[in-house]
Amino acid sequence: TYVVTDACIKCKYMDCVEVCPVDCFYEGDNMLVINPSECIDCGVCEPECPAEAILPDTEDGLEKWLEVNTKYSEEWPNITVKRDSPPDADEYKGVEGKFEKFFS
Ligand code: SF4
Ligand code: F3S
Repeated sequence: TYVVTDACIKCKYMDCVEVCPVDCFYEGDNMLVINPSECIDCGVCEPECPAEAILPDTEDGLEKWLEVNTKYSEEWPNITVKRDSPPDADEYKGVEGKFEKFFS
C-alpha cells in the first residue's frame, strides 16, 4: 500500500484524490490519509503530490504512518473531489515537526 505522511499536514493540496482509481483517500482537518485495505498499489498518486507526502510503505521507517493511515481512514470521511488547498499551504511545505504540532 501507499501511505500519506506528515508532509501533507497543513498543505493538503488534494491533487492525490483526483487520480486515485479506487477513491481511497480520507479527509481530516489538516491532512488526508489512504485506506491501506482499499489501496491497490497503483502508485499514480505518488508523483502527483506537490509536497511529496505519499510514499510506498515498503520504505524504511513508515510503520507509524501505516498505523495512522489505517486508524484514521476508518474514522474520517471519504474524499473523492479536489477542493482548494489552504491559503497558507505553501508556507507549511517541507516544514519539520508538523505531526506533533498540527496533526488532526
Ligand atoms: Fe489510490 Fe493508487 Fe495512490 Fe493507492 S497508490 S492511494 S490506489 S492512487
Ligand atoms: Fe496531501 Fe499531497 Fe494529497 S499534500 S492532500 S497527499 S496531494
